[in-house]
Amino acid sequence: LPKYHILPSGDKIPSVALGVWQAGQGEVGLAVKTALKAGYRHIDGAWAYRNEEEVGKALKESGIARDKVWLTSKLWNNFHAPEDIESALDDSLSKLDTEYLDLYLIHWPIAFKKDGNNVLDVELTADPYPTWKKLEELVDKGKIRNIGISNFNIARIKNLTANPLKYRPAVNQVELNFFNPQPELLKWARENDLVLEAYSPLGSTRQVKDTLTLPVVQEIATSLGITPAQVIISWHVQRGTVVLPKSVTPSRVEENLQVTALPKDLFEKLETAATSHPPQRVVNPSKNWGLDFDIFDENW
Ligand code: A2P
Repeated sequence: LPKYHILPSGDKIPSVALGVWQAGQGEVGLAVKTALKAGYRHIDGAWAYRNEEEVGKALKESGIARDKVWLTSKLWNNFHAPEDIESALDDSLSKLDTEYLDLYLIHWPIAFKKDGNNVLDVELTADPYPTWKKLEELVDKGKIRNIGISNFNIARIKNLTANPLKYRPAVNQVELNFFNPQPELLKWARENDLVLEAYSPLGSTRQVKDTLTLPVVQEIATSLGITPAQVIISWHVQRGTVVLPKSVTPSRVEENLQVTALPKDLFEKLETAATSHPPQRVVNPSKNWGLDFDIFDENW
């Protein structure tokens, strides 16, 4: 299985990361230290996860050199306006106690007004190009090595990339799991040389149990002598995505890094099982944010 993917900048992004969404303060530090000790060299975080200080501290305390670890953060919805972006990035850099990020993503294809509580910025939501141009500038300034997007569907990607870009999106981070495997997006991304990153790869808190107890997953785990989580995480890497499993349980953090190629027939069996039911998304904040549209609607 690929240990990393090469991004347009030439940088190598490790295939398996520790995801720290929903890893709370007081527990995320130990998870990060356990991960680095186990051999992870990729931490996927975000400003909005409210744990960047503890992540940064754990990285420092691990003694591993900054340039040996891939650090991702994400620009929150309230800071899309070009004049707000650099300070938003600086806040993440200072919390993480680092000079630069390996990857900075537009967290959602939705812009809110800076001080508005979920008040939609209609213009910047319709057109993320001004936001993107500012991110390109910050690459040139040396504060970010790669830029990308998250939660963009194909229509929204095309809307952005129809503009003249100095740097095209290096990745698109989206929900990918057994219940929402998004084969069309995966195929499109492959054809367009865009790396996908799988968040909630185990189905997140809500569906991890249902996922890991699926007969097809259990059967593959037993026949290969690996755990159900390892079956799912390996499947993601084998599909060609970067995978971001979250755990704050040390034994699981260690377990989740051990990926292994599934024999072709078993891989196909799992892929078929995953793609032969109507997709069920775990993460969709459209309603919570009071939007009158669905963020993932292809006809937005
Ligand atoms: P915990 O963090 O308490 O260990 P996802 O990566 O899809 O977001 O899923 C995260 C959820 O899956 C969390 O509830 C996490 O629990 C759980 N989890 C992570 N790794 C494993 C594992 N190897 N076995 C069982 N559950 C796991």
